[in-house]
Order: sequence, then C-alpha cells, then structure tokens
Amino acid sequence: MLKIVVMGTGYVGLVSGTCFAELGHDVVCVDKDKSKIDGLKLGTKVPIFEKDLDDLIKSNKSRGRLDFAVDISGVINNSDIVIIAVGTPLDAKGRTNFDYINQCVSEIVAHAKRDLHVIIKSTVPVGTCDSLQKRFNQESSYSIDVISNPEFLREGEAVQDFLLPDRVVIGSDLEDREVIDELYKELSDRGVEILYTNRVTAELIKYASNSFLAAKVAFINEIADLSERLGGDIEDVSHGMGLDKRIGRKFLNAGPGFGGSCFPKDTKALINTGDDHGVDLPLVRAISLSNEMRHKHIVQRIKKLVQSNDEISVLGLTYKAGTDDVRCSPAINVVRELCAQGFKVKVHDPKGIPKAKQELGDSVSYYDDLYEAVNETSVCVVATEWDDYKNLNPEKLANCMKKSNIYDLRKVINKEAFMKSGFKVMVVGYKSE
Ligand code: UGA
Repeated sequence: MLKIVVMGTGYVGLVSGTCFAELGHDVVCVDKDKSKIDGLKLGTKVPIFEKDLDDLIKSNKSRGRLDFAVDISGVINNSDIVIIAVGTPLDAKGRTNFDYINQCVSEIVAHAKRDLHVIIKSTVPVGTCDSLQKRFNQESSYSIDVISNPEFLREGEAVQDFLLPDRVVIGSDLEDREVIDELYKELSDRGVEILYTNRVTAELIKYASNSFLAAKVAFINEIADLSERLGGDIEDVSHGMGLDKRIGRKFLNAGPGFGGSCFPKDTKALINTGDDHGVDLPLVRAISLSNEMRHKHIVQRIKKLVQSNDEISVLGLTYKAGTDDVRCSPAINVVRELCAQGFKVKVHDPKGIPKAKQELGDSVSYYDDLYEAVNETSVCVVATEWDDYKNLNPEKLANCMKKSNIYDLRKVINKEAFMKSGFKVMVVGYKSE
C-alpha cells in the first residue's frame, strides 16, 4: 500500500485518486476549491457526473482509504507519491497554459521535506516532464523523480477505463521501478501491460493516440458526407471497414464532429509542438481543420429545412452521452452558429443544461422536458446520443412541432417510424428522405 497525494480534482484527478484507493492505496485528493473539497468530504456533492464514481468515493471513504484536503502542506511529507492532475487548457493564442502545473510544482518545492516521486497525469506538451525534472533538481534539495504517466480514460467510462486499461504508460529515467510496480501491481496482476519508456516518448504516446483517434472520427465524418450525397449506408461502411482488423470498428461512428476537453485541444497542441521544433504535421493540421468546419456544414443543411423566422430545437448539448461536459461540444457550436444566423433555438439535455448555461447564457431557451423543447419548432436536431433520444415518439413530436423535420446527427432515431409519421428525415451519412 502506497501513500498518494493527488493534486486536482477534475475528471482525471478525482477518478484516478478514487481508483488508486480502490486498488488498495491510501489517497488524499487536494484541490484549492474549498467548496468542492467540502462537498466531497461531507459526501454531499461529487463535482462531476461520472458513472460509478459516487459509489466508489463513498466506499473508499468509509474504508478510510480516501480523503480530501485544500492544500498539500499537511499531507505531502507522509506520502510516497504526488500525482499532478490539474488542467492544461489552451490560452487565447492556442498555446498550453502551464499556470496550474507551475503552481503545483512551486507548492511541492515549498512543502516537500523528503524524497518523492512526482507523477504527471495532466496532458502536457512533449518535453514538459524533462523540464520539470530540471526545475525540481534546481529548486529542491530533495531527490524528486518526475514520471510521465499519461491517462487514457474516457469521460462516461472513466472508472472502467482506469481499472481495466488497455495499457499503462510510464515515462521515466528511474533505475528502480519498485514504487511504480507497486502502484500498478493490481493492474499488472490483471494482465494489463505496463510500458516503461522515457518521458518524451510517454508524452508523445498520449498526443499521438488522441490525434489518431480524432483522425478516425474526422475521416469517417468526411466519408459520411460523401455517403450522404451518393446514397450509401454509413453504418455499413463503418462496419465493413472495421471488419478489417488492421482498421478496427471503434471510433468510426459518424456524427457532428469530435468535441470534449481533449481531442480538439490535443490535436492543436501536437501541431504547436511540431511548429516549435520545425516539424510540419499537415495531416494533424487537416484533422483539426476538418472538424472545425463540420458544424458550419451541419447548419447549412439545417437551413435547407427552415425559413428565417422558424424556431429550431436541439436535443443534446454535451459533447457525447454519459457526461455533463459541454467543453468544445459540437452541439454547442451548432447552437451558437444557429443563433448567430438569427434563429430562435430551444434546447434540451438530460445532464448538460447547467454547464451549457455557462456557455450559451440567455441566447437560447432551456427545457427539462424534451417535448416542450420541440414544441412549435420547425426542425428537431438530435446532437447527442443520449438514451432519451433513442425512443423518441414520432407521433408525439409531429403533434407539437410546427413542421415535421428531424435531423439526426447521431444515428439514434427510428428512421422508418419517423418517415411513416410523415417526417422529412435527415440522418448523418444517409441520403435524406
Ligand atoms: C478521449 C480519449 O478517448 C481518451 O482515451 C483520453 O484519455 C481522453 O480523450 C483524454 O485525453 O483525457 P473523451 O474526450 O472522454 O476521451 O471522449 P471520447 O469518447 O474519446 O470521444 C471524443 C469525441 O469524439 C466525442 O465528441 C465523441 O462524440 C466523438 N466520437 C468518438 C465520434 O464522433 N465518433 C466515434 O466513433 C467516437
């Protein structure tokens, strides 16, 4: 059992901290946001919506393996490992903002009075961990080993992804791997491969993986455009491609474009890293560009169904189902573009409304009931693949909508049932009917 401090209680920090406790370690999660920590300590509020997380926090707290604190000063000198899992957003110029990482490093230097392992789980540009190692060597009189250990969990599946990952990547120059072996012993016992490499390689694996997955999504979206025009069946295209084991079916679901806090940011950060080192990455550039253009194309198609004074409903605001996160959500981009073009937009989402309000303010009308959201609208756009939208009742929709138009960006509706009810149906990757 190791003693671990996790700095940052966002998706990566809170899930990792809780899951390391679940693996048997003794964990304290630290965050400067006192109200967040109070809520977690009292068990009244888990700050993110993530399947199974509430239960795991509760059970590990009651076993005494998981605690929370507002700063590291009282816990760091009782720890073997400090994990940094704070945000690395892009700034206005599209460059990585290191403020949170730098604050963590300064705090560790100020408070650590023993040798430590510092694990970087935040996604940081290639070369960052080597620079942090130099900084610790210069500023601390203790031996602080910096280890790059990128995280590959998906929001919505985060707990499962953490507890049974495809791989664990460790970037370090450690001669002695005992602590890391102990940290991940439970997972390696379950057959998970622990890949040891250097820090630069570990950082590169993270960016290359996210950019590659983003490429699959952007690629199938372009093929979906072609399929739509030519009368193909995009599901069969994805299936047919995926049957080739070298390609694989995963991440070939056509949709409104990739969003979230990772793919858009990480593809850009990879391009920047290339620029910084004089290496052009035209393919990665194209992934980003293709995705950024997608919501404009979608709005063009919506406009073919409506007149300028028509109201439009958008069902689903999060960047995918299973999360309350709306960061870089394609649905939000579509809504923004519709508003910019003067349309009145009514929106619904089972989990994302509070966060969507921070993005969209009062530019749209929000509804808890999806049938109220579609009321009197002339087209209903399904933008997130929530279960709530898989069983939409076409009769009920037809009765309350002004015109019977539906545009399914996630291939979740029962197309035949809608057509039978007199709807004009558009589904991403299919010719409209
Ligand atoms: C992604 C990676 O999948 C994780 O491995 C990684 O750890 C994480 O980023 C991160 O860097 O933190 P996440 O952003 O949670 O995870 O979401 P994904 O499930 O990968 O989906 C990303 C976007 O692509 C979503 O907007 C989703 O709707 C879209 N997508 C995904 C598609 O449109 N089609 C697909 O077939 C798959």
